[in-house]
Amino acid sequence: MTGTDRVNPVLRAIRTRRVVRTMSDQPVAREQIEAVLDAGRYAPSAGNRHLHRFVATSDPAILRVLRMVSPGMIQRPAAAVTICIDQPLAVEYGFARTSPGLYVDVGTIAATMLLAAHGIGLGAGPVSSFSRAAVGVVLRLPEGWSPELVVCLGHPATEQPPPMGRRPSLSWRDLTRWVVRGPADEEQRADHDREA
Ligand SMILES: Cc1cc2nc3c(=O)[nH]c(=O)nc-3n(C[C@H](O)[C@H](O)[C@H](O)COP(=O)(O)O)c2cc1C
Repeated sequence: MTGTDRVNPVLRAIRTRRVVRTMSDQPVAREQIEAVLDAGRYAPSAGNRHLHRFVATSDPAILRVLRMVSPGMIQRPAAAVTICIDQPLAVEYGFARTSPGLYVDVGTIAATMLLAAHGIGLGAGPVSSFSRAAVGVVLRLPEGWSPELVVCLGHPATEQPPPMGRRPSLSWRDLTRWVVRGPADEEQRADHDREA
């Protein structure tokens, strides 16, 4: 943890959030689910369109069936929020079904919800491995809403499974390439100055 993380709560939250795959049986309070849903609407969205809709449930019977059709749902969540694209609304706004912005937005919403959950002491885990058709039926999704990602919510159990597919940790330096003005730019500038 760097000095900045120690003093900055947002950076600290980003660093300390982990996917929670073991959750206790303790129910999640309705206000906590609502806090996560409310955070989702502050996520950046392409063109500020907000073409996504959230489907929330804390009904144990629905969660059980949701889990049955979601091989990626390792945890037994106390609540789940499914992020859906309202496809007819997206088309109305001129987005193609395959428009990358729609799917980038799923990611920004999910990241925001995961951090919000962590911020209020809940455990959370995204799940993308599920049968879309079955989830549509289980959640009684309105016509045209495509389920894209489920955010599982619950109280973290004390023991957690080891992280998935652990790789040697990369620093931001390993992931980043700085670009600065190089000799080519200088030559271009000189040509421009000569022509001017
Ligand atoms: C688009 C997306 C889909 C994911 N789908 C699943 C999933 O189906 N099941 C699961 O257990 N985790 C899923 N994850 C969580 C990742 O496995 C997890 O973020 C990664 O292992 C890093 O762990 P960390 O977030 O705790 O650092 C998904 C994450 C993303 C971004």
